[in-house]
Amino acid sequence: MTSNRRTALITGASSGIGKELASNFARDGYDVILVARSESRLQLLAGELHARYGVAATAIVADLESANGASELFNEVKRRGLFVNALANNAGYGCFGEFRDADLERELAMMQLNMNTVVILTRLFLPEIISARGKIMNTCSTAAFQPGPSMAVYYATKAFVLSFSEAIAAELEDTGVTVTAFCPGPTASGFQDKANMQDSALVKNRKLPAAEDVAGRGYRAMLRGRRVYIPGIKNWLMALSVRFMPRRFVTRISKSLSRPV
Ligand SMILES: NC(=O)c1ccc[n+]([C@@H]2O[C@H](COP(=O)([O-])OP(=O)(O)OC[C@H]3O[C@@H](n4cnc5c(N)ncnc54)[C@H](OP(=O)(O)O)[C@@H]3O)[C@@H](O)[C@H]2O)c1
Repeated sequence: MTSNRRTALITGASSGIGKELASNFARDGYDVILVARSESRLQLLAGELHARYGVAATAIVADLESANGASELFNEVKRRGLFVNALANNAGYGCFGEFRDADLERELAMMQLNMNTVVILTRLFLPEIISARGKIMNTCSTAAFQPGPSMAVYYATKAFVLSFSEAIAAELEDTGVTVTAFCPGPTASGFQDKANMQDSALVKNRKLPAAEDVAGRGYRAMLRGRRVYIPGIKNWLMALSVRFMPRRFVTRISKSLSRPV
């Protein structure tokens, strides 16, 4: 508890944006706690980060879409005597397709991971983050800024995380803790396959930015204490422009942008 070392816990650290966030923390000298379900990937990354940066890297396997996954993770971190200064709530996924055809169980599991887990981990780790004047980073998405036909529930989960993050950032402004809602646009990662959205106009035949680049920008925005950060000028303009357009029109554009092609 009294160590001078700083520790960052990153969920979804086994691939994509979370893996790159973990590398950024480690490069800056943070010890890292890497969380996801894929044990071998986590162990491999932990070994790499320890070898390259000399930090302590701990892999913890957790299924954060199960009802007790987040609280069990907190208990496991405490059982190991670890103290978290920085929390990156990054694990998440989407489900592509019309809501009428949705697999309800899968959508509910996604809601648990994308929303409830973020709230639970933030609340449980908050006392120690406050005492360390630490950092919270929640990976949202440009999906947070408008409704998303074809991914209706996913977009709504990200709107929730954006609103939650901005609200607690304001509550915590006297504590030295910063909360960053990190809102990437489409990014090359495991996300597209998992969401089954290879045919969406959002990604099909498009060269997506690398997770390494996107995560690096988000990490630096977190260091600067930005409340909301949208990497990429086009993404930023899109998110800004929806504020000035009628909601129905915005939703129609969003529908055409994500339609299957
Ligand atoms: N890629 C994009 O286009 C994009 C755009 C905007 C926002 N985002 C957001 O960025 C975040 C990271 O996604 P990504 O693009 O890096 O996708 P990714 O490569 O698929 O990574 C997702 C990560 O979440 C973990 N995860 C998934 N289900 C989990 C569960 N039940 N319990 C614990 N961990 C779980 C995965 O690990 P395991 O499978 O090993 O558990 C993996 O490490 C997500 O919140 C996503 O919504 C992505």
